[in-house]
Amino acid sequence: MPGVSSRSNSGPAQQVISMGVDSANLQLAVCTWCGGTGWEMVDGKGVRPCRCRISERRNQLLAAARIPKRYEACSMDNYIPQGSPRSQEFLSQAYALRDAKNFVDEYPIVDHGIVFFGPCGVGKTHLATAILRALVINKGVNCLFYDFRDLLKAIQDSYNPVSQTSESRVLAPVFEAEVLVLDELGASKPTDWVRDTMTQIVNTRYNDKKITIITTNFVDEPENPQEESLTDRVGVRLRSRLYEMCRNICIKGQDYRMILQENRGRRF
Ligand SMILES: Nc1ncnc2c1ncn2[C@@H]1O[C@H](COP(=O)(O)OP(=O)(O)O)[C@@H](O)[C@H]1O
Ligand SMILES: [Mg+2]
Ligand SMILES: [Zn+2]
Repeated sequence: MPGVSSRSNSGPAQQVISMGVDSANLQLAVCTWCGGTGWEMVDGKGVRPCRCRISERRNQLLAAARIPKRYEACSMDNYIPQGSPRSQEFLSQAYALRDAKNFVDEYPIVDHGIVFFGPCGVGKTHLATAILRALVINKGVNCLFYDFRDLLKAIQDSYNPVSQTSESRVLAPVFEAEVLVLDELGASKPTDWVRDTMTQIVNTRYNDKKITIITTNFVDEPENPQEESLTDRVGVRLRSRLYEMCRNICIKGQDYRMILQENRGRRF
């Protein structure tokens, strides 16, 4: 008979069974709600999938979302609007945070994605990844993150010259994810192939009524006319499609990493 012992530091839902195996002191963590069956008894109602399965599913979804390690800890709680409280920078960041929170709260009753516009380091990727994490953890949504340049590279690498197509193992999850973040749209040199590929991905998701969240450093009307606009980078067709399917959130401000450095400098 395996000996059952409770471990104070293993949380209320965990007990440890010592298997009594001589060669290794094998210990198996078993869920106290379901005893490892995956089904939990509900008084008067029969059984339902155990809560341990739900958290296991969330962990799988989180891994499948491919949120980069650098952004693993990003949440709405640790996004702190910067600048003096009445400045345009501070307000744009506070509104972006509020809109990101509302998006998660309202999901799935949302019919638009988001385009986060803004210069480098204002937290566009922070907020986009915070939304994905919150959707996975709070709502069990199937999400996916891709830096656009990495996605284009993955598509190119999977290209099969014989069939003249890219393998669907790369594109299928991109088409199928319920919510997709495309980070740094427009960052790649806009060749015809890049434009066509971007447009095809976004259009397919639009036709399937899937939500897409985009970040970009390019704006519609650059202050300096020498600079390229988002339309220059992605083409007219894709820009106008994005108008239909996403809300614009413009974030202003300084690069957060510079602010940190300046603050550090001031302390010493
Ligand atoms: N307002 C903020 N509060 C807390 N961290 C921030 C804020 N803005 C940016 N950061 C952090 O600064 C770094 C750069 O932000 P990032 O989201 O990569 O910027 P962007 O995508 O706009 O270039 C990240 O580590 C991010 O977590
Ligand atoms: Mg970014
Ligand atoms: Zn269980």
